[in-house]
Amino acid sequence: MAIPDSFLDELVARTDITDLVGGYVRLTKRSGSNMFGLCPFHSEKTPSFTVSPVKQIYHCFGCGKGGGAINFIMEIENLPFRDAVEVLAKRVGMTVPDDSAPDELKDKRRRMLELNRDAARHFHEMLSTPIAESARKYLQRRGISKAMVTRFGLGAAPESWSLLLDAMSAKGYTRTELLEAGLVRSGKNGGAYDLFRNRLIFPVIDVRGSVIGFSGRILDDGEPKYLNSPDTLVFNKSRNLFALNIAKKTKSGMLILAEGNIDVIALHQVGFDCAVASLGTALTGEQVRLMSRYADNAVIAFDSDDAGKKAALRAIALFEKTKMNVKVLNLGESKDPDEFLQKHGADALNRLLEQSENHIEYRLMTIKNNADLSTDEGRLKYIAAATELLSELTSRPEREIYGANVAQIAGVSPESVENEVTKMLKTKRAQQRKQFDKQVTRPTVALQPSDRTLRYTNEYSAAAEEGVIRCLMRDTALLKVCEEMGFDRAEFTSPFLAKVLEILARRAHAGSDTQAAMILSELPSQEASQLTVILQKPEATPRGEESIRDYIQKIRAEKYKSEVPDENLLLSIKKYREMKDVGGY
Ligand code: CTP
Ligand code: MN
Repeated sequence: MAIPDSFLDELVARTDITDLVGGYVRLTKRSGSNMFGLCPFHSEKTPSFTVSPVKQIYHCFGCGKGGGAINFIMEIENLPFRDAVEVLAKRVGMTVPDDSAPDELKDKRRRMLELNRDAARHFHEMLSTPIAESARKYLQRRGISKAMVTRFGLGAAPESWSLLLDAMSAKGYTRTELLEAGLVRSGKNGGAYDLFRNRLIFPVIDVRGSVIGFSGRILDDGEPKYLNSPDTLVFNKSRNLFALNIAKKTKSGMLILAEGNIDVIALHQVGFDCAVASLGTALTGEQVRLMSRYADNAVIAFDSDDAGKKAALRAIALFEKTKMNVKVLNLGESKDPDEFLQKHGADALNRLLEQSENHIEYRLMTIKNNADLSTDEGRLKYIAAATELLSELTSRPEREIYGANVAQIAGVSPESVENEVTKMLKTKRAQQRKQFDKQVTRPTVALQPSDRTLRYTNEYSAAAEEGVIRCLMRDTALLKVCEEMGFDRAEFTSPFLAKVLEILARRAHAGSDTQAAMILSELPSQEASQLTVILQKPEATPRGEESIRDYIQKIRAEKYKSEVPDENLLLSIKKYREMKDVGGY
């Protein structure tokens, strides 16, 4: 399953990071050898994103993202490690060794994806032929632009029983292949016929860019409104979302979940490049988890009928199991996002999105729906959850109005809810103050990365630990010094740096490439960013051997100090350190 180091080495060596990044970001040369550009990972007006052709790494001083070529693709295409490697490999004409599935199955999958791609091309071409007049008219009537037709690769299945069947047979696909891909059905007397007829065709493309299936929308009021490919070797409706291949690249930090493909396209057309839809089944946990890989916020924009409202509540429950924040759009009189946009335009939708930021009523309703109000225990739980929510409100009248609502539902007096909220607010404020005090009196705390796994158990040895890694990454020959001094990676108080040392030592030992980009490629994005930051800090002296000895001694001294049991002594040492660290490394 694992990709061999030697392969990764070659892949990274063959990839030029400036070329790679240049495909996404306009880079200009400014000072020294580094290139600058506008960061593709956060919005900015002045460039704080840099690429180092020498080190083959990138780093953004604005958002802190950084890493090597593989990290870049993982980050910008939102892909897991293996998929990112595949993208890079394709780019330089290498084939990733794969032993995970039997060859036969892999061949079958590959062939089915090829067939799907050919079918998508066929449908798309059909759209501009005379027999697809009705589909074109339909697009026109719905106000869908040419640009959207191209972006989504929309197509047409004209009124015919065998247009696709014939076209794909002519390309050499067998009937069995067409059946297994769900593109044709077998008829009664041994014949076969096209599944999609007289429909507007939406190819379903997964996050890796493969056409995995199709949805066909009827052109009039007939039933069913949508026909979808059946699940196949490459298509699973509960694990994919329409338009996620495009929406995954959004910079808006959110994903808008709509019901119909037409709604999705209407949203994209006016600039909401973050709209997706499920594929005709009720939203699943898998889809929600998939979405959570690409954005922190979810906006539910279902139809405003009862079915849509019910589905929204179900969806909220699923989102609440992830780290995503979820909001629900209240479309008012409009039946769906498409109609809302036709009537009111994109600006109005933007305002609606802002307003629903604190969709208190909706969230309170969810809390209520999840509570069992028939028991005392359930009512107490309800009050506790509602209190938590109310304490987030900054306006007092709001707290009072919603609080009174909650009180009524729970069957208690408004005052008792108010008391609970006041208590909660006090606790929260005290916590904030504590946090603040900590930051003011102990400046080194601010240096701690927010991710727990990246932290130093002893922050006073942080600078020295980073120094060791920096020295080693610049010159792996210094591993000898570590060995000599009997330095063990367990001496790092940061488990993360211990891991980096392990990777470095392993690669050096195996004679593999130890350049920064290679090490970074083995790390998840958070860690890669952290390491990039560490690598970019200047090193005081060019004498590596001397530096690394100093660092190791410092790590050991700090460990000793942290183990001194005398409280007072510890305190005074800390005070002294703080003073030093302010102007320190
Ligand atoms: N649906 C489906 N297959 C898809 C997408 C949607 O079966 N690939 C279903 C949804 O589950 C939902 C309905 O079709 O029940 C979506 O309806 P709607 O929003 O009405 O679709 P639109 O194409 O936007 O049509 P309209 O213009 O009538 O709003
Ligand atoms: Mn709709």
